[in-house]
Amino acid sequence: MEYAFFEGSFVPIEQANINIKTNSLHYGTAVFEGIRAYWNEAHRQLYILFAREHYQRLLNNCKAMFMNLPYSSEDLVRITVELLRKNQVREDVYIRPIVYFKDLKLTPKLIDYTPEIAIYTYNFGRYLDTSEGIRVKVSSWRRNDDNSIPSRWKVAGAYVNSALAKTEALLSGYHEAIMLNQHGYVAEGSGENIFLVREGKVITPSYSEHILEGITRNAVKKLLKNELVVDMEERPISRSELYVAEEIFLTGTAAEITPVVEVDNRRVGSGKVGAITRELQELYFRAARGLLDRYMGWLTPVYER
Ligand SMILES: Cc1ncc(COP(=O)(O)O)c(C=O)c1O
Repeated sequence: MEYAFFEGSFVPIEQANINIKTNSLHYGTAVFEGIRAYWNEAHRQLYILFAREHYQRLLNNCKAMFMNLPYSSEDLVRITVELLRKNQVREDVYIRPIVYFKDLKLTPKLIDYTPEIAIYTYNFGRYLDTSEGIRVKVSSWRRNDDNSIPSRWKVAGAYVNSALAKTEALLSGYHEAIMLNQHGYVAEGSGENIFLVREGKVITPSYSEHILEGITRNAVKKLLKNELVVDMEERPISRSELYVAEEIFLTGTAAEITPVVEVDNRRVGSGKVGAITRELQELYFRAARGLLDRYMGWLTPVYER
């Protein structure tokens, strides 16, 4: 039987349903996370990657949205471990926590409502092609500005922006969209942060560029500093820099580390996955699966040993 955590208890997934009048369904005010857990067959263990960090971001977003939940991030990690045990997950899995106003009232506001949380597991598989890389298009849709709907928050309504960009890219024959911010600088993908390599240096837009504060982005920064020992720079990136980059890759919980081999019909570097991207992927996947001792702190084991 598959369970979800739904409004305070574990219930069979078929019973984890909301009313059509639910306020957050109408106004996009739900806040959510995407978390992956990786199965290690040799360890007979399922490792949740960055569980605390994801729940801390969720609670930060909830605070901004006036959603006061009776849980700490530690509580939510414990609930997630219990859910994965109940569902006896022994394979790679994606976890989707979502917080919404359950009230059946029709006013788009954030106060005087009751937030609830649901958590369920999902068999995502690979989100994008991490081995051969993908073709991307600079979108005609601009990234949400911090003063309209902050991109920093994983709030449901903000994903209309992502859905528009992703759809345009797919209908134009590309795999993913890269969005520019309102100032015309490179922001991020529809569900990923972006990194470029130029003259051996790795560059990524800073937090002030209207992007999500990606947890994978942070992990990549650590790997670049500690393992690859390459220089990193956070600064505004112009669209035209994408066309002369030696390597481009996207990062995200779903996208993991996805190489970009073509942007707006121009080959990135040689058109093959670059050396820095490959090395980062290798390290990231090994760390996520509990194969690198020095990064075990990134993981929460689900089963008792
Ligand atoms: C718009 C957007 N940017 C970036 C990311 C990457 O964030 P993270 O690495 O925390 O999953 C995501 C995915 O959550 C996203 O939706």
